[in-house]
Amino acid sequence: MHLDWPGLARRRAAASDAGAAAVSEDRAPREGRGPAPAADNRRAVVHPVILQGIHKHYRLDDVDVPALQDIQLVILPNRFTVISGPSGSGKTTLLNLIGCIDRADSGTLVVAGRQVYTMDDDALSDFRAQRLGFVFQNFNLLPVLTAYENVEYPLVMATMAPAQRRQRVQELLEAVGLSAHAAKRPGQMSGGQRQRVAIARALARRPGIVLADEPTANLDSRTGAEIIELMRRMQREQQVSFIFSSHDAQVLEAADDIVRIHDGRIVAVERDVNRP
Ligand SMILES: Nc1ncnc2c1ncn2[C@@H]1O[C@H](COP(=O)(O)OP(=O)(O)OP(=O)(O)O)[C@@H](O)[C@H]1O
Ligand SMILES: [Mg+2]
Repeated sequence: MHLDWPGLARRRAAASDAGAAAVSEDRAPREGRGPAPAADNRRAVVHPVILQGIHKHYRLDDVDVPALQDIQLVILPNRFTVISGPSGSGKTTLLNLIGCIDRADSGTLVVAGRQVYTMDDDALSDFRAQRLGFVFQNFNLLPVLTAYENVEYPLVMATMAPAQRRQRVQELLEAVGLSAHAAKRPGQMSGGQRQRVAIARALARRPGIVLADEPTANLDSRTGAEIIELMRRMQREQQVSFIFSSHDAQVLEAADDIVRIHDGRIVAVERDVNRP
């Protein structure tokens, strides 16, 4: 089955169509088959992220906190999608589910063509490392490693050959404008430079999806604007889906699609918001 995803995007998301495509086995990604994905320059077939009937509650001192309720959502591939809503509305919870960092209480989640809740924790952790990249609000870089080594780290974990690794790290550092700072440690870099390293690291293994929880929250507005511009460019150049949470107006202005969330429920999905 060959579906035209950009075409589908223009038609507005149809969850049932998307579900059928994403779970089709003949287009499933290649985990467990062939060489390590990090050493593989072919881009996997793109898939939407699909959430159906997702519920998530937290328990706090015997009190039940409903964080997400009956989430039905399709996030289209190769786009810049922003999840927006007030504090406590469930943005981080939703990103943690999509990023397979946490599991829902009920419902179905399809990421990169896989029904993720059919995987055990080990399989899910491998899947996450191979298919997803993360950019955090506080950068989460390893302080003892240089910029170069931070970007290289996921490739070492993926046992990529040294020559290929060097080439990939150099091209990423160049793409994020940090070639001249490769030998610096995070403590010797500005916030914006650290976030650039984090973006390069998130893209190192050529994930299909990069997730970022408020990536500009710890940056001043000018640096934040530069980082958004960089992420926008990387999203296009690397053909990757970027999914962010943010209430930063600058991030919303850069979005293709906006998912609005309130009190744990999706209240609106706006597609192509900044296209003429
Ligand atoms: N570990 C937890 N234990 C209990 N309740 C939690 C936990 N994490 C989040 N919550 C609750 O779940 C709800 C959603 O929280 P979440 O962190 O997803 O919101 P958010 O939209 O990311 O907020 P913010 O903009 O402040 O980051 C809130 O009511 C929050 O208090
Ligand atoms: Mg949050």
